[in-house]
Amino acid sequence: MDLQLAGREALVVGGSAGIGLATARLLAAEGASVTIASRDAARLQEAAASIGAGAAWFPVDVTADDAEARLTAHYGDGKGLDILVVTVGGSIRGRFDSFGDDAWHDNYNMNVIGPVRTVRALLGSIERGRSPAIVLLGAAGAKMPYVNQVVSNVHKAGLLALVKTLSHELAPKGIRVNAISPGRTLTRLWLDRAERMAAEQGTTPDEVIEEFAAEVPLGRFAEPDEIAQAVVFVASDRASYITGQSISVDGGIGRGLL
Ligand SMILES: NC(=O)c1ccc[n+]([C@@H]2O[C@H](COP(=O)([O-])OP(=O)(O)OC[C@H]3O[C@@H](n4cnc5c(N)ncnc54)[C@H](OP(=O)(O)O)[C@@H]3O)[C@@H](O)[C@H]2O)c1
Repeated sequence: MDLQLAGREALVVGGSAGIGLATARLLAAEGASVTIASRDAARLQEAAASIGAGAAWFPVDVTADDAEARLTAHYGDGKGLDILVVTVGGSIRGRFDSFGDDAWHDNYNMNVIGPVRTVRALLGSIERGRSPAIVLLGAAGAKMPYVNQVVSNVHKAGLLALVKTLSHELAPKGIRVNAISPGRTLTRLWLDRAERMAAEQGTTPDEVIEEFAAEVPLGRFAEPDEIAQAVVFVASDRASYITGQSISVDGGIGRGLL
């Protein structure tokens, strides 16, 4: 299927690693003009080189006070932005009574405030885009709260509420807003976690991954590319009647009907 993305202007915030990098690569392969942004300049430079096709990059920390200024500076020349993908986010594991205010605030800043700031800063550019689409990254845990993940369960559910609300507000302007909600996906986020858990439990990271993979009906973690395929589809005009949705790509781990 031709996704008709040739010449489209796309920005992936969180595009230097994991699902974001896989998305940036797919967008570039489909002919889009891709920019990636995240915190670490060296990692961005390496990621942009791996994408090829003249991929551009700029550093931004979406949890920092200067984030909006950095984002608007990059698109301040009246250029339109057709596709905005924000993958910044993550979960922390632990029981409810193990988290104080700082942990809640930090995770909220990353999962909710970061995407909010990014969309707000770039809205003018998105309004100038061609059939523009915004895609944010939810999580299976937003629809089916995991035990031991209370903080991000709450914040990712908030992000899905943001997607639904924004989709209504921006629909009259022709802007679509959706979320892709991944299940367990083999990225740095999980590889680091598996190492920590293996050290705590006296096992190996591979054994931790196997244990968690066994809970997934398809019996394995997703590759980042399998999530990115869905992100790129909803960002494309092939999904022109899809807005306000959170589409699960979770190997079947979500047990709900919706
Ligand atoms: N992996 C999973 O199993 C899984 C499951 C459910 C949901 N998700 C969601 O999917 C999304 C992507 O996850 P992932 O596994 O691809 O994560 P990842 O591999 O850790 O990649 C995160 C990306 O975001 C950037 N980043 C992190 N904090 C940032 C900040 N404050 N400002 C700007 N950029 C920042 C990172 O680069 P720098 O560190 O250099 O900034 C990196 O490019 C997240 O929202 C996550 O919650 C993932």
